[in-house]
Amino acid sequence: MPTQSPLRVGLVGLGDIGVNHHLPAVLRHPGIALVAVADTSGERRTAAASLLADTSVQILERAEQLLDLELDAVILATPPWVTPGLAAHALRAGLYVLAEKPVATDSDGRASLEELSPELLRRYQLGLTYRHDAAIHRLRELFREGRFGPGPCLVRASIYDEARRPDEPEHADRIAAALGHGAPHVHEGAHVFDWLSFILGRGATVSDVWSLKTDASFAAPNLVGARLSYGTDVTAMVEYGWLTDAQPASEITFLTDTAFARLELESFDLVFSDRNSTTTFHQHASKMRRCFDAQLDSFVELATGVIAEPSIGLAAGLATLDLADAITSRINAQSGVN
Ligand SMILES: NC(=O)c1ccc[n+]([C@@H]2O[C@H](COP(=O)([O-])OP(=O)(O)OC[C@H]3O[C@@H](n4cnc5c(N)ncnc54)[C@H](O)[C@@H]3O)[C@@H](O)[C@H]2O)c1
Repeated sequence: MPTQSPLRVGLVGLGDIGVNHHLPAVLRHPGIALVAVADTSGERRTAAASLLADTSVQILERAEQLLDLELDAVILATPPWVTPGLAAHALRAGLYVLAEKPVATDSDGRASLEELSPELLRRYQLGLTYRHDAAIHRLRELFREGRFGPGPCLVRASIYDEARRPDEPEHADRIAAALGHGAPHVHEGAHVFDWLSFILGRGATVSDVWSLKTDASFAAPNLVGARLSYGTDVTAMVEYGWLTDAQPASEITFLTDTAFARLELESFDLVFSDRNSTTTFHQHASKMRRCFDAQLDSFVELATGVIAEPSIGLAAGLATLDLADAITSRINAQSGVN
């Protein structure tokens, strides 16, 4: 238990991830006092009010109102085309910031963070939530311990999320709006590109790409794939899909001459096999709960000075964005878009 006063925190963005995952994680963290939440949507504020009825948490309309409340930190669960500006504003006001991924979806958003001083950026943690999980760390250790052997490796990442939900038009509108700011590899890719470079210990170059729009009205392809090279000996086939009625399973596999591993993405259960044995790495708590809790632990350590640098900072987010941009450029070149 912390010996100092709880961290005074505000949460901006009471949408899907804000209310369902950040809010519960904040409320159960012993080192945090949630002071206020904010959302520009009256509907979202009303829904949050019923969740917070037994608390003294203030419910505000504008993120800027949080700055009058002597907070230590804010969590930004806003759309990624809004988040960079809010993050820069809060950092300049002296707060610690935990900001949802992707780091930005356009050059202005990116620039608003890149222009900040290293001192300010030391208070910025990017919400690449699942990198905190033990399964990702276990995979990295398996590579570092040489358990996959010395030879080439084939990685296959199949990331299918956000299936169309016929009974939830709000969901379809939200995901279609996200497509207006980049295909799924920009949004989901933030996580997957980050895991792969963390696990493999290096960055990637793009060998080739494909893309499909299953609905001509979409602003960007909803199915995207790429072949990536992580150095000369690791080839990764990555594919992402949104907004179809049914979807393939989501998983990442690693295959070499002597070993095979499968990370199932719903649970993050990890199975590793070589000629000697098959080992299953299963964690008891739900993936979302343990990852949001671990992410918040790390943020509290940053904001209370236990660690001097964010566990996941701007550089990691920019690396995923660079790779996503390289894929987008190839897709645009193939489809004749400038
Ligand atoms: N870490 C994860 O696992 C994960 C999962 C899903 C989404 N996300 C990310 O979380 C972010 C939010 O996604 P979501 O699905 O919750 O979206 P959402 O649209 O459901 O929620 C966003 C909320 O932000 C509010 N908002 C927008 N602009 C605002 C402003 N200027 N001030 C205050 N509130 C504002 C909206 O009214 C909305 O309620 C995105 O960046 C998304 O990529 C992360």
